[in-house]
Amino acid sequence: MSGAGPAQPMIARRSAPLKGEANAPGDKSISHRALILGALSVGETVIEGLLEGEDVLATAAAMRSLGAQVERRGPGAWTVVGVGVGGFLEPENVIDCGNAGTGARLIMGAVATTPITTFFTGDASLRRRPMKRVTDPLSMFGAQFYGRQGGLLPMALIGAAAPTAIEYTLPMASAQVKSAALLAGLNAPGETRVIEGVATRDHTERMLQGFGAEVVVEERAEGGRVIRLTGRPELRAQRVTVARDPSSAAFPVAAAALVEGSEVVAPKIGLNPTRAGFYTTLQEMGADLTFENERLEGGEPVADLRMRFSTLKGVDVPLERAASMIDEYPILSVCAAFAEGDTIMRGAEELRVKETDRIAAMARGLIACGVEVEEFPDGMVVRGRGADGVRGGGKVRSELDHRIAMSFAILGMAAQEPVHIDDSQPIATSFPNFTPLMRSLGAGDALELVPASEA
Ligand code: S3P
Repeated sequence: MSGAGPAQPMIARRSAPLKGEANAPGDKSISHRALILGALSVGETVIEGLLEGEDVLATAAAMRSLGAQVERRGPGAWTVVGVGVGGFLEPENVIDCGNAGTGARLIMGAVATTPITTFFTGDASLRRRPMKRVTDPLSMFGAQFYGRQGGLLPMALIGAAAPTAIEYTLPMASAQVKSAALLAGLNAPGETRVIEGVATRDHTERMLQGFGAEVVVEERAEGGRVIRLTGRPELRAQRVTVARDPSSAAFPVAAAALVEGSEVVAPKIGLNPTRAGFYTTLQEMGADLTFENERLEGGEPVADLRMRFSTLKGVDVPLERAASMIDEYPILSVCAAFAEGDTIMRGAEELRVKETDRIAAMARGLIACGVEVEEFPDGMVVRGRGADGVRGGGKVRSELDHRIAMSFAILGMAAQEPVHIDDSQPIATSFPNFTPLMRSLGAGDALELVPASEA
C-alpha cells in the first residue's frame, strides 16, 4: 500500500513536445463500484477495463474477505461472483483500504446493514480523514461505530441486525457519502431517500440501475437531486465496461496544453457531466481541446480528447462547477500558473479533506516554484505567469497524495528549472502507468526516478 513502502523521489524537467495516444487507466470511482456491486449480486459479474491501482486492489481484497469470489482473468479483466444483498460474511481480519477514502466509505456503507462486525483501517493519510460524514447517516440505519477520537480509523463497525430505511440530506457535496447511504439502503426494507444540494458524480445510481435495483432520480427545481432507492432488491450480475478515468486523463491532457509543440489524443475518456467540469474550464481558458467520437459506452458518455499546446488565460471558475471537477483542482492550479492573468478557484472547501489538504499542498508547492498564490478557506487565486513564465525549481512534498505528485510532475515538464518531488510512489494508487505513459509520449528522461539517497 502507498505510504508503507519506501519513498520514490522524482525529478521533473522541461520536456520535449508530447505526441501520440495517452491511454488513461480505468475510472477509479467506477472500478470501486463495479467490484462492490458485483460482490452484492447473484451470479458472475464480468468487468473490463478495471483500474488496477492500489486503491481498487484494496477494494478487491476487501470484497474477497467479505465472501465474494474475485478473480483477475487478464489485464483489467476481472470476474466477481457475488454473495447477494445481505449476504456478506464476517471477515477474519481488518479491512485495510490503503490510501482510498472512496473504498473505505463505500465499503462501510455496503456492510452497515448486514449483522456482521468489520474493522477498517488505512494508510497514514486515510487514518487522518474524516469518517463522521459516513458514520452519521449509517448510524441512522442502526449501525454502530467505535473509532478513534474524532471518528478516525481504525474503526469497528457493527452492522445493523434490523436496519431501517432513512431519509438523509447531505450536509456537504460528497458522492462518497451519498453512495455509502445508498449501498446501506440496499439491505434496509423500504425506501431510502438521499437528497443532495448539488449534483455529485452519479456512478452509483447508474450502476445500481444497471444491476437491477429500483433507483429513481429526480432533479430539484432549486438545484441538486433526490435519489430514491427501494431496499432489498435482488441484484443480478452484469458485464461492466469501465470508462477511462477523466481525472487521470487530466494529467497527460494538461501536459499537452502546457508543453510547447505538443498534440496528444486521449481515447475513450469518460465524460459523465458530473465529472467533466475540468475540460469545460480548460476550454474557457482558451485551450485547443476538442471532443471527438462522442458516444455511450457501458452506460457512460465517452469521447476521444484531442489537446494541442495552447496559450491559456486566467478564468473565474464558477462555484457551482466545483463538484464536477473536485479532483482536478490540483492540475487546474498548475494550468493556471502557465496562464496569462489570475485564475480564481473558490467553493472547493472539500479539497481540504482529500488525501491531503490539497489547497495548502498546492499553494506551498506553487509558491516554491515561483508562482504567486493567494489562499482562501475554500480555494485559491493563482496569479498566472504565462506560457513560458513559470520558474519551477522547487522542492515539493506529495504528502501521500497521488494528484499532488502528478500535478508537480507536469509543472516540472513545462517550467524553466527542474522540480524535485519527494515521493512519486502515491501515483500507483490511481495511475500505475503514469511515468511510462508520459515517457512514451515524449517526456523521456524529463521524468526521472532517483534513488532516495540522491534526492
Ligand atoms: C469519489 C468522490 C469524491 C472524489 C473521490 C472519488 C467517489 O470524493 O474526490 O476521488 O468515487 O465517489 P467526495 O465524495 O469526498 O467528494
